[in-house]
Parts: sequence; structure tokens; C-alpha cells
Amino acid sequence: MSSAPQMDGFAFTPENLERANRLIARYPAGRQASAVLPLLDLAQRQHDNWVPDAALHHIADMLEMPYIRVMEVATFYTMVNLAPVGRFHLQLCRTTPCWLRGAGDLRGVVKDKLGIGHGQTTADGTFSLVEVECLGACVNAPVVQVNDDFYEDLDDASFGRLLDALAAGETPAAGPAVDRRTSAPITGQTTLTDIAPAAVRAVEATVPAPAPEPETEPEPVDAAPEEIESGAAAPEQVEAAEVESDPANPATTDELTKKDGAPDVA
Ligand code: FES
Repeated sequence: MSSAPQMDGFAFTPENLERANRLIARYPAGRQASAVLPLLDLAQRQHDNWVPDAALHHIADMLEMPYIRVMEVATFYTMVNLAPVGRFHLQLCRTTPCWLRGAGDLRGVVKDKLGIGHGQTTADGTFSLVEVECLGACVNAPVVQVNDDFYEDLDDASFGRLLDALAAGETPAAGPAVDRRTSAPITGQTTLTDIAPAAVRAVEATVPAPAPEPETEPEPVDAAPEEIESGAAAPEQVEAAEVESDPANPATTDELTKKDGAPDVA
């Protein structure tokens, strides 16, 4: 158990209790333990972004499950904080894609600027850092989650600017730190190109326009049935159409009989 300051008891606020009961009601009778993660999240949001031990007991009682089972879940997921964290809780991804793209450098930026490492909080309580495994945004590596937001495609400079802005009370826009739309290819979209970023449109503008197609005479088209009925078709076209549909024509009748699947008659 952590050395976090503890409290005698925990209870959801009336509003959160209502939410908790709605969450529990989503699961079949006897399966209410499935609501353990959303209830932990609810407790954490109510309690300054961390879950005290008393809340683990309270949730265990509500879900009629052993306390140790709640503790197992709470200690497995890094998203559950079991000790107080800073106002800006940094979760720095250190799994392979982020590491290959410079997560180690970002760790150095935190150390240089804030003087903290994994599991530590600045003295003024503004920032805390934990190193976590894949945040599920590898295509935008390296990634740092700040409270609920993902900051992506970071490097030393952009991450340093992000920390400065947060310390100054600003809220920088989440998402990629480079000229990129969400997780589209770094060179711009390869599909839906009509919404390509300016850089791609600039490249496209340098490509010469294709030569115009040579003009050709239109092919003659057989008359459609409606044209025959309305008399708009040429006489020879009408004649040919009547022969094809004449039941007295042996060849045509034979063909039709076979297409219908009826047996041949001797
Ligand atoms: S490896 Fe960092 S988000 Fe997946």
C-alpha cells in the first residue's frame, strides 16, 4: 500500500451516487463487479484526481466484491492514481514506438525543467510525472498525456513549450505538435485529398495538368425498347427487334425454352 495520506471514510456525492448506480445498472444481476473501473474513475474525479484507500473499500462494498479484487484492478491500470498527483499529471509513454521516436529525450526535458522523475511531484504540486506503457496513439509517437488530453508528435522543443505554457496557466491545444491532421500521414492525406493541408496542395500545384483527350466520334447505339414502342427507332431496328421476340421463330423459342430450364421436347 502506498504511503499516501488517507482518510477515515469515503462516500460519493449524491450526484455521483446517482451516476454510480446508473453505471452498475448497465450490467446483469450478479455481474455488477464489471462496473469497478468506471466507479474507480468516478471516485478519482471526485477526489482531486486520486483514489484513497477508503474509496477502494467503499467501491468494494457497493459492488459486493472483495476489497483485494478492487485493489488488483486499481494497481494494474496506471490510469488509477493511488496517491495525490500534481495539478498537471503527466503520463509519459515509454513503450517501443515512443521510445524510438524520442520519449527518452522528453523524460530529460521533464528532469531539466521540473526536476522530477517517475512517480514524483514538483514541490508546488503543479506537475507530477509517471512513465506509462503504450497509450494507444503510437502513430503519433512520442506521446504525453496531460490529465485527460493527449499531446502528440512531440520533440524537446515542443514539449518544453508545452510545459512552459501549462505553468503559465495556458491551455495549449491537444493533438499533434506538428503540421499534421490527427494521425494522417506526416506528408499529408493520401485519401480524401480535397481536404489536404496547404503543404500538399502546394506540391500538387507544381504537377502539370494532363493533356486533353482527343475528340472521337460517338459509337452508334441500338434503339432502347421504349424508343421502339414510341416509334422513335429507325424501321430496320424495329424489324430486327420483332424477329428476336417472335415466338414463331424456332431458334428464338428453343433458346428461350432452354433458358427457362424446361426439358427439351422431341
Ligand atoms: S508506444 Fe507510445 S502510444 Fe503506443
